[in-house]
Amino acid sequence: MNHLIAPSLLAANFLNLQQDIGTVNQSEADLFHVDVMDGHFVPNITFGFFIIEQIKSIARKPLDVHLMISNPDKYLEDFKNAGADWLSVHYETCPHLHRSIDRIKQLGMKAGVVLNPHNNVELLRDILPDTDFVLLMSVNPGYGGQHFIDSTYERIRKLHQMKEETNPDLLIEVDGGVDTHNAAKLVGSGVNVLVAGSTVFRSDNPLQTISELKHLSPAN
Ligand code: DX5
Ligand code: ZN
Repeated sequence: MNHLIAPSLLAANFLNLQQDIGTVNQSEADLFHVDVMDGHFVPNITFGFFIIEQIKSIARKPLDVHLMISNPDKYLEDFKNAGADWLSVHYETCPHLHRSIDRIKQLGMKAGVVLNPHNNVELLRDILPDTDFVLLMSVNPGYGGQHFIDSTYERIRKLHQMKEETNPDLLIEVDGGVDTHNAAKLVGSGVNVLVAGSTVFRSDNPLQTISELKHLSPAN
């Protein structure tokens, strides 16, 4: 399958959000990546249901909502109601991860597990058959514009191997520090979904940057 592009609205201009959403609507991007932070699981705070509802009302592509919050189980249905199509929870926040994943799917969303850079991908082996996608953090979650962590390539390769053994339909998504230089190697290592915040919205020509990310040739 061709890889998907998910521009992260965290890097959009919130005084002109309608315009930035319009740009993504017009572009070759596949999803909107929407980062929810609570100031508890991660040091930063972003936004919640009200803003997601507003985004949903004009977005013409599915919303990929990345929860960086403690106790996400409490809010799964609320995120569905706000407009999430894909919903991912951090491994580190779910003591009963299988139940959380099951619930997200029951609610009619694609279910994803997110793993911080310090956690071994092997931790996910037993949940992969039940999961739609894994989001590997390639920075420590909390902020946009951080530097890509190089050990991510090896983590992707390991996860890709596990995917072949347990769930070939699994999608592998990478988030943090993705740019037009590392994207080809990421896709070549097995990534199916590229999240890109600053690279897209700090670009002079976001439409062209999205197109470049979409049409790259996978590299080793
Ligand atoms: C970071 C967020 C990312 C962020 C990526 O915690 O999960 O989605 O927006 O931003 P860039 O692409 O600028 O690293
Ligand atoms: Zn994210």
